[in-house]
Amino acid sequence: MSVKERILCIGAGYVGGPTMAVIAEKCPHCRVELVDVNEERIRQWNSDDLPIYEAGLDEIVKRNRGKNLFFSTDIGRGIDESDIIFVSVNTPTKTFGQGAGQAADLQYWEKTARQILRHSRNDKIVVEKSTLPVLTAEAMDRILSSGGDDAQFDVLSNPEFLAEGTAIRDLLEPDRVLLGRMDTERGHAACDRLSAIYENWVDRSRILRTNVWSAELSKLVANAFLAQRISSINSISALCEKTKADVTEVARAIGLDSRIGPRFLNAGVGFGGSCFKKDILNLVYICRQQGLNEVADYWQQVVRINVYQHDRFVANMIAEMFNTVAGKKIAVLGFAFKANTGDTRESPAITVCRRLLAENALVHIADPKALRQVEAELGGLDGVSLFEDPYEAAEGAHAIALLTDWACYRELNFQRILDAMEKPAFLFDGRNLLDHRALYKIGFNVYPIGKTPLRHF
Ligand code: UDX
Ligand code: UDX
Repeated sequence: MSVKERILCIGAGYVGGPTMAVIAEKCPHCRVELVDVNEERIRQWNSDDLPIYEAGLDEIVKRNRGKNLFFSTDIGRGIDESDIIFVSVNTPTKTFGQGAGQAADLQYWEKTARQILRHSRNDKIVVEKSTLPVLTAEAMDRILSSGGDDAQFDVLSNPEFLAEGTAIRDLLEPDRVLLGRMDTERGHAACDRLSAIYENWVDRSRILRTNVWSAELSKLVANAFLAQRISSINSISALCEKTKADVTEVARAIGLDSRIGPRFLNAGVGFGGSCFKKDILNLVYICRQQGLNEVADYWQQVVRINVYQHDRFVANMIAEMFNTVAGKKIAVLGFAFKANTGDTRESPAITVCRRLLAENALVHIADPKALRQVEAELGGLDGVSLFEDPYEAAEGAHAIALLTDWACYRELNFQRILDAMEKPAFLFDGRNLLDHRALYKIGFNVYPIGKTPLRHF
């Protein structure tokens, strides 16, 4: 079969890896290559132990690797040999200079644009996959147009809406695919070519075409709206704890209103993940740059409530455990920012554990998938121990803090855990995952989010 499109993705991370694997699977007539500066990452993609965990990813990679899916560190060659280049390098929040703590750090992205320019000898379509501030495509276009006439570039924005843990399903059955293009003849033609790739498995009615700026902004706004729902319900959880209302009941009651809908209304210890905070801060920064301070303040509050929720959780633990956790063993069940992923970026568990350590607590952390990342985040700190087995983590503990909604924690034998714990035994359920009444009955003092605690004293 002749190769229809030669596709390259720069940045073999959480977004680039699964996205390209699915394109390779669904487009056997295309050649798909992932390149990355990180040699170790590429080695892992070429091994049996992939660098990220996603349900279904292993099978897809193994089925297509070496056939039409390749991984390499040779970025220059990859650029030269491709027609469509996805850019999926990371765009973290800036930690220095102007906009520090809010704006996106675009250094990797700009470096990548210049690499594309340097190594291109034929026309290319360049697709923004990374979440970027509005108007970045225009800047990319300017850089790419600065290099003479050898190659022409068409820049498209195709933001990714996949959620970790369900990445493969989200890619196979997306709610929508968003394609942003310049309103020119070339822009439309480039968009047709990119659309043709998705049309191999996505119905045309779900492929949305907009101008580039709308596509860029939609990505930030989608994440801001999702995070806003979580902060909204979390703010109400604080009120529920003061008033005997139950946040789960409130969420259900409002979620049945079809205008509100039931999803993303689970109160918890707060949202994490690499996108929500970063994208909102980015939105806030853009609003301030445009002089829209009221709008910026509005969205900033979503992040503020999230921090407040982490703070409240730890403060409550300490207050309930007689105002001291020094020297006490706390079993932390779950460290990933949510279930079904090994990713710990911006996980509430990081803040909670660091606060407990600052109080001289001993933190015993268990997680089914994230221990490698926990080691990188907290390994070597005094007071931190890691466990594969949640029962071992809880042995001799004064309290359990459940921080990730792993379904397997619902199946634990809590009688066995309780028997091995110090008494009184405390259980802080940061995800409202467990059967609180049953736990109370067997002897735990149970502290859910947004509900009246169940205490024996
Ligand atoms: C990242 C951003 O966080 C997200 O906003 C964006 O939408 C897509 O890119 P993710 O894939 O989760 O998401 O990031 P990460 O897993 O860190 O992957 C980025 C990869 O790019 C890394 O493997 C990194 O080594 C690579 N990279 C970075 C390059 O290949 N070249 C660079 O210059 C910089
Ligand atoms: C998110 C978006 O969902 C996705 O569309 C985008 O492309 C990237 O950012 P992700 O960060 O993978 O995806 O996870 P998501 O499922 O959205 O959860 C984010 C955080 O919110 C997690 O910490 C999760 O535990 C928390 N959450 C989610 C809640 O606290 N309550 C909820 O009801 C839902």
